[in-house]
Amino acid sequence: MTEIVLTEDGSHTLYVPELKEHYHSIHGAVQESEFIFIDHGFRTSRASPVRIFEVGFGTGLNALLTAIESASAKRKTFYTSVERYPLPLHITAQLNHSSLFPDEADISGRIHSCPWNTTSQITDTFSLLKIEGDLIQMDLKGDYDLIYFDAFGPDKQPEMWTDEVFEKISAVTVSGGRLVTYSAKGSVKRSLKRAGFEVSLFPGPPGKRQITCAVKI
Ligand SMILES: C[S@@+](CC[C@H](N)C(=O)[O-])C[C@H]1O[C@@H](n2cnc3c(N)ncnc32)[C@H](O)[C@@H]1O
Repeated sequence: MTEIVLTEDGSHTLYVPELKEHYHSIHGAVQESEFIFIDHGFRTSRASPVRIFEVGFGTGLNALLTAIESASAKRKTFYTSVERYPLPLHITAQLNHSSLFPDEADISGRIHSCPWNTTSQITDTFSLLKIEGDLIQMDLKGDYDLIYFDAFGPDKQPEMWTDEVFEKISAVTVSGGRLVTYSAKGSVKRSLKRAGFEVSLFPGPPGKRQITCAVKI
């Protein structure tokens, strides 16, 4: 049974007892997402408009932070996210993410209430396609400038961090496109290199020594 947990920056995350895994860092869910996906991803990518593909929609926190940033930067953003196990609305409704951004509460509401498997215009600058599906099985198509690779950890879900998965992601990442992920594991870096990415490590957010940023060659 998924549990709601308060992280050190005051934002909620979820804990999955079966995997012994949190959706975000217990040192701060918003802090981690901002640092990795917004600072090292959205703000670092030069693409405009920017086409983002996220692995693991989860609580929708990355989508919310990206929608907020897209509005303030007035940068058109096409956000596609795949999720194998969509969370029920009664769980997402209990998360405090929207109350941390009271001016953007309607954005958060729209992100969660919009239907799956169809594109919804959430704000003037941000459209969202939430795909209910299994990344491993699905036939992935498209061209993306930025990948948020936010699967559960390689120790908990090794099948998401294989050469095959990164080759699938690489095939839909444009040349010069960027991939960001919280894992700096050696095997992940090697898989990314084999899949055609140039890989760099950066100091991570609190509680995380390093993160991986990769650019498609
Ligand atoms: C670390 S959490 C993602 C956190 C999320 N990005 C957020 O902002 O809350 C990992 C997510 O990957 C999803 N997932 C697990 N296996 C998957 C698969 N085979 N295909 C797509 N999503 C998967 C999980 O259900 C979970 O929601």
